[in-house]
Amino acid sequence: MWGGATAANQYEGGYLSGGKGLAVADTLTGGDGIHGIPRTFVCEMPDGTRAVFGARDDIPAGAKAIVDPDTYYPSHIATDFYHHWKEDIAMFAEMGMNTFRLSINWTRIFPNGDDEEPNEEGLEFYENVFKECHKYNIEPLVTLYHFDCPLHLANEYDGWVSRHTLDAFEKFCRTVLTRYKGLVKWWLTINEININGNFMMNGIHEAISNKKNYEQCMFHLFLGGAKAVLLAHEIDPENKVGLMLNHGATYPYSCNPDDVMEEIKAAHNYKWFYGDVQCRGFYPEYKLKELEREGIVLDKEEGDDEILKKGVVDFFSFSYYSSSTYAAHPEEHEESESNMTRGLSNPYLKKSEWGWTVDPVGLRVNLNQIYDRYHIPVMIVENGLGALDTVEEDGTINDTYRIQYMHDHIVQMKKAIEEDGVDLIGYTPWGHIDLVSAGTGEMRKRYGFIYVNKDDEGNGDLSRSRKNSFYYMQKVYKSNGEDLDM
Ligand code: BG6
Repeated sequence: MWGGATAANQYEGGYLSGGKGLAVADTLTGGDGIHGIPRTFVCEMPDGTRAVFGARDDIPAGAKAIVDPDTYYPSHIATDFYHHWKEDIAMFAEMGMNTFRLSINWTRIFPNGDDEEPNEEGLEFYENVFKECHKYNIEPLVTLYHFDCPLHLANEYDGWVSRHTLDAFEKFCRTVLTRYKGLVKWWLTINEININGNFMMNGIHEAISNKKNYEQCMFHLFLGGAKAVLLAHEIDPENKVGLMLNHGATYPYSCNPDDVMEEIKAAHNYKWFYGDVQCRGFYPEYKLKELEREGIVLDKEEGDDEILKKGVVDFFSFSYYSSSTYAAHPEEHEESESNMTRGLSNPYLKKSEWGWTVDPVGLRVNLNQIYDRYHIPVMIVENGLGALDTVEEDGTINDTYRIQYMHDHIVQMKKAIEEDGVDLIGYTPWGHIDLVSAGTGEMRKRYGFIYVNKDDEGNGDLSRSRKNSFYYMQKVYKSNGEDLDM
């Protein structure tokens, strides 16, 4: 499966069109990743005052995110798939894509997240999109939840900390899985579940200072994912459902055994825990020990453990952008940053303009480790280079840096399949069409092979054009990865 990947909150726009309600993402401002200026929320506080919080701050309980009329919100129009879907899907087909990853905006179907009845106009929108994909033999790969907690559930229920959100999600899943039976066969449950608990985008208040909140939120997300798997299989046995993790490669900083042990702990904590639960169906021992040490007892209902056990996934999908290293004495080394994760810099590797380590071999390392551990099919559902693009006077965009990045990563995928025997079944690079950055809210951090004319202030006519990487990917896709020459 060769394709491209997007998320509704970063691509779709139409933020109140067709009966859509507000999601937390609609209240997130733009930031500046190169200069370290974070995205923020304008919140109404319980005493009636207003306060602004960074997206990764510990936001106090009772604060309600709002849409401030004087503030610019990049997701409101995003890159306007809502009005360009026919044109975009035709371009995807031209590029040779046979798979298109997109997410369903929960608030387009249930405007408050927990409404009695679904919004028919929202359901129709995706139905038309899926039918259009099939016209071109493009298989939709649909994420059920990609950073888009309904604002009502976030403000009134503290999002996924509450069982109420889990129940509402289950209803949402049942609705869309039933409606799109026969149109969608490939599903992803919760995007990057391992970084979901970290920030208000997913509705959680006091995630940093209150670890119980974080763990409870995670438990509900796992249950949400497992219930989605069970529902998908019950509604259509043809359905294939995958987990989705943020899965950078992790290395010990050195061969000092203390550094090696540090990497094992970091990797458990950052990624394996989340894969272990969703592939094996239970909390691993190292996590149970941690909860015990911290005195955290999860609130569970009868039958929850059984749901986790039965709702294991059919395949493993992940995003891959970079790698980081871990040391017993991190203060002696330079920090590195990637999407919402932190480790230490690797002296052997270069970084992108946004400071993310570029590491193609790390992708092969990852593929091997994942397949060795779980032995189920693997899909890379995000990968790519966020970079500044220049449009030349004649309209061309010569993004050789992106072509190089794609080439180097695909070479490693090929080795993982041909030399290591990894059952890698699909590749959908991130933001194959320009969209809003999740981490920074910027437009100028572009991943696309298709350029969208829009800037960080919202100027631009949203017209689409082909970058040089479009033609490179077309060649790769149409040759089924045989022709990688740049
Ligand atoms: C992943 C997300 O974290 O990485 C995407 O699933 C996100 O939503 C992508 O856009 C790239 O990160 P960023 O911050 O550069 O947009």
